[in-house]
Amino acid sequence: MPASSPELPRFPADFVWGASTAAYQIEGAADEDGKGPSIWDTFTHRAGTVRDGHTGDVACDHYHRFDEDVALMRRLGLDAYRFSVSWPRILPSGAGKVEPRGLDFYERLVDALLDAGIEPTPTLFHWDLPQALEDEGGWLNRETAYRFGEYAAVVADRLGDRVTRWITLNEPFVHMSFGYGFGVHAPGRALLLDALPVAHHQLLGHGLATAALRAAVPDAQVLVANNCTPVRLRQDARGEADTAAADAYDILHNRLFNDPLLHGRYPDLSAYGMPDPAWGGVVRDGDLTSIGAPLDGLGINYYNPSWITAPRDPAAGLPFDLAEPAEPYLRTSFDWPVVPDGLTELLTGLKARYGADLPPVWITENGCSQPEGSHDPARIDYLAGHLGAVADAMAQGVDVRGYFTWSLLDNFEWAEGYHQRFGLVEVDFATGARTPRASFDWYRDLIAAQRP
Ligand code: FCB
Repeated sequence: MPASSPELPRFPADFVWGASTAAYQIEGAADEDGKGPSIWDTFTHRAGTVRDGHTGDVACDHYHRFDEDVALMRRLGLDAYRFSVSWPRILPSGAGKVEPRGLDFYERLVDALLDAGIEPTPTLFHWDLPQALEDEGGWLNRETAYRFGEYAAVVADRLGDRVTRWITLNEPFVHMSFGYGFGVHAPGRALLLDALPVAHHQLLGHGLATAALRAAVPDAQVLVANNCTPVRLRQDARGEADTAAADAYDILHNRLFNDPLLHGRYPDLSAYGMPDPAWGGVVRDGDLTSIGAPLDGLGINYYNPSWITAPRDPAAGLPFDLAEPAEPYLRTSFDWPVVPDGLTELLTGLKARYGADLPPVWITENGCSQPEGSHDPARIDYLAGHLGAVADAMAQGVDVRGYFTWSLLDNFEWAEGYHQRFGLVEVDFATGARTPRASFDWYRDLIAAQRP
């Protein structure tokens, strides 16, 4: 461990050590074996969407090299691997005809993981919606939620005898805001607050998928992976209007997703011009019962806190402004501030807010982008600091069951293309060659040292 890393306490013997990836970011093979196009295939091929015109057509070529990647995971000593299933590989048109070759691929991956003693932890939706469903309105259309439930049943039917831990959605907040609110991610729609139904329809899809998973897999453990952020005020911005703005941001980013899942109701959306609890007919009878069905775990993806001030231009349409922190935090290559204690604040805050309704928590993503090369001491410090923050939250009574770092491999980082490198393993995107970084060895040694 580098000198600057804090000493890590012992985690419980059954704590799960993992790593995460997502289908579009690593698989490549964009139109192989009958796969249909996803919104990310469409978006990345549109000029001006992704930095330098990068696409996920080939990415890490994991589709053809998954054996090599599972061997890397085995070397790491992972307990579990979080990957995502590409919906358009399974249902090329989003619904109807199933493509068995897509299911075969995930079956081969799951079997390779199980052979390596690694628990497969699939996410059913990590943003790559079948384009055919986007053509019908995507997540703005309530029907997409039903299609998601049907797709979950198809995957569970094939893999449910071998997979027990399932994650339905990845970061419904980010998909709504970046994909439909601001248009910087696929499907590239800039609807601002008119994107709100995307939140409800994803959550309804989660509810329907949860029911489908539980029907097909009697011992299923169902989680959702929410991107959560502790909301902070700048020291120089602590007036009443700033506090109101921070509350409004907390509602949009965190509570809009956590409240219905954990408390079975939406927070007050008056700050967003939506005083009607039924959102003008979007939220229908029975929806919240389905969404609020008890979860087996809450997945948390944490990267950094958010600093909020009152809007400088209230006419711009949002009740807050995102600000930069006043403190000189270390920064990742993405320029994201490195704030490990934000994770402790987030976890203890969830426990304070949801109490007995908070299920066991899993850190389903946490990691950082660092410069190219295999020498990455800043990543080691980042991981050590954040694991220390998890341990602090556990010492304060938060039940955290596992930690999945983002990411196993350098990969296609959405609007940033291949410019942001999050991997424990460096990938040469010209040749596909994988080179474990210093952080890989550090994580391997950490996991080994934590073994009972
Ligand atoms: C999260 C995404 C994940 C990855 C990390 C850096 O928002 O879920 O796919 O891009 O950010």
